[in-house]
Amino acid sequence: MSKKYSTIFPLMMALSLLLANTLFAQLADYPDDEREGIKINYTEANVGTYTLPDPLELLNGKKVTDAKTWFEKRRPEILRLFEENEYGRPVGDPKDVSFEKFDAGTPAFEGKVLRKQVTIRFAKENPEPSADVLIYLPADAAKPSPLLLHIGFMANCATVDDPGVKAGEIWNREKQKVPTDCKSAFGKIDVLQFINRGYGFATIYYGDIDPDFSGGLPYGIRAFYLKTGQTEPAADEWGAISAWAWGLSRVMDYFEQDEDIDAGRIAVTGVSRLGKTALWTAARDQRFAMAIPSCSGEGGAALSRRNYGETIKLITLPQRYGYQFCANYSKWSDDPSSNPVDAHMLIALMAPRPVLLQTGDTDKWSDPKGEFLAAVAAEPVYHLLGKKGLETDKIPQSGVPILNDIGFYMHKGGHGMHAVDGTSDWEVYLRFMDIYLKP
Ligand code: GCU
Repeated sequence: MSKKYSTIFPLMMALSLLLANTLFAQLADYPDDEREGIKINYTEANVGTYTLPDPLELLNGKKVTDAKTWFEKRRPEILRLFEENEYGRPVGDPKDVSFEKFDAGTPAFEGKVLRKQVTIRFAKENPEPSADVLIYLPADAAKPSPLLLHIGFMANCATVDDPGVKAGEIWNREKQKVPTDCKSAFGKIDVLQFINRGYGFATIYYGDIDPDFSGGLPYGIRAFYLKTGQTEPAADEWGAISAWAWGLSRVMDYFEQDEDIDAGRIAVTGVSRLGKTALWTAARDQRFAMAIPSCSGEGGAALSRRNYGETIKLITLPQRYGYQFCANYSKWSDDPSSNPVDAHMLIALMAPRPVLLQTGDTDKWSDPKGEFLAAVAAEPVYHLLGKKGLETDKIPQSGVPILNDIGFYMHKGGHGMHAVDGTSDWEVYLRFMDIYLKP
């Protein structure tokens, strides 16, 4: 090497390394932890080795090489495997569901918004279970509006700041349903940010569909569909997440009947267990045009075969979140690699529709890298259908979104959709929606 190059070369190397480090994230390791006597690994070098099932290989060993085989054979096969092995098959009947519009369109937010409220009765003549859906649409819309459907931990009146919203009931810590005071532990969602960009916003309280605690079965939608003599769903029948997802599909049934709503352009979102729910909802129900699961982690978009953060064993413990899944899920506790499905196949069920995985770089319990790697492994299905995946196998720096048909965004910070500096991720969601949902 000439003298000139011997000085420039190391400089260039250092520069490209610096550049690579600013573009790609290096997630920190953390000390191991323990819960319920189960060890939790937070060291990347100790995640173990694993082989993922090929999303493009049928159970009979044949490769899927065309869209027709994907949609007619492999997609239904994967969907059934998820029902059997993770979330449970919803057994509700949409024919039993009715809608009561009790707020048919009232001006709100200084007239910029049209508010609607609908009660969904899930069990026909029975008044309960029922859920109120709160819908906001741009008042000046010339055409049916696309919208973001949010499933939340709070009653509708606590989710937004609008005195016109019906005050519903919520489950308290004593496992009783009580009137809400409409206060929110999470802050209120700014409705106008969607309206100003031409979208509607709708929200539903998940506890109206099925309660979120072990032993909640008798109080939710699943109880209504138990057969005579059955005291709990069969091992492959719906857990709470599948019940919430089924409820969201009933909201979609309503959207399809409302001519002010563009039911072909609906995105669904939720955080954490409701991120798992949003992803499972749209994975199953292809009427949803987009999913934006936030920090869905284990039992959501993060690979279970990676031993990092929460595991199947931890999540399915009866004293933890076993009730959210079907009973079969716990079969894979000691050996997640024997589960015929993993999170990349759940993301693949979204194809060719856009899906944005939002995570946080210190949300180690949810394993943001496990979500990233699942997205990478779902890519061949998107390619088969002529769409783009993440198109990189290097996890991007926090704060830098990838907004291809598969999107990934890791904010700087922890669990939820707020970064350490307090800013929320709605703006990234809206950018994603602008790319794929704008009429
Ligand atoms: C627990 C659970 C997670 C879940 C989270 C939430 O932490 O272990 O899997 O996502 O609750 O819903 O907030």
